[in-house]
Amino acid sequence: MSQARIIDGKALSDRIQDEVTAEVAKLKAEHGLTPGLAVVLVGEDPASQVYVRSKGERSKAAGMHSVTHRLPADVAQAELIALVEKLNADPAIHGILVQLPLPKGLDEKAVITTISPDKDVDGLHVVNAGRLSQGLPALVPCTPVGSMVMLRDVLGDNLAGKRAVVVGRSILVGRPIAQLLLQADCTVTIAHSRTVDLPAVCREADILVAAVGRPRMIQADWIKPGATVIDVGINRVPFDDPIKAAEGKTKLVGDVAYKPALQVAGAITPVPGGVGLMTVACLLQNTVTAAKRIAG
Ligand code: GUN
Repeated sequence: MSQARIIDGKALSDRIQDEVTAEVAKLKAEHGLTPGLAVVLVGEDPASQVYVRSKGERSKAAGMHSVTHRLPADVAQAELIALVEKLNADPAIHGILVQLPLPKGLDEKAVITTISPDKDVDGLHVVNAGRLSQGLPALVPCTPVGSMVMLRDVLGDNLAGKRAVVVGRSILVGRPIAQLLLQADCTVTIAHSRTVDLPAVCREADILVAAVGRPRMIQADWIKPGATVIDVGINRVPFDDPIKAAEGKTKLVGDVAYKPALQVAGAITPVPGGVGLMTVACLLQNTVTAAKRIAG
């Protein structure tokens, strides 16, 4: 079989960034409305710092009002909640994102529940999750939305009846992407750490979504020949080259063993250069959506 098509997250995310930039300019010119995004980062997690910087830079590049609040890892829960409440009440802010995971000792659920569902551009609030599960208009988590754009770039609207297997059941990725695949009339299985014979379940998939956060866990022989593979994982690992590894050099890999998978899949997203870029682009899109809804 020929090598899989590599789904280009850079090209697709650039297109969304351009669309958002045009939309922001139009909202400013015609309605005097500047969409505003507030990102909250608690602690010093290196990966989170990179993601948050990217979210700030991209939202500014699109012409949005963008603020980043950095809080120490030992911030009191009440102080974090108070910040979210202040942002809920701020008319210049239309989207609020609290970067996860939060440091130990902070209650993620309580923080997410405090975010106004209208400003919940991460789509994590139970109101948005519930609306999504019932097929109602909702703010939908950014990684799943971006993954669907990549999937449709390969399969167009021909998703009905396809067997989709989502490996992972997080509220940020696994569960919402399963809902979106279901809305697209796929037959959806959510697999997870307790699934019996995971390789056999994965081999059923026309569409395989890997969202487990374990480097290169999904092997090439778990993939049905010709399947479309969406790799959501972003894992930092030592270089394969032992000399570079000994120097402490690291690189990013996905949840799929990418090189061997290229020989089996029909299409696959790379890491880096895949879903991660789409997440940020879709966050900007969600912020514009929220701003338009709030402004009425
Ligand atoms: N951590 C990793 N991805 C995300 C995301 O999409 N949103 C938030 N809030 N935290 C994350």
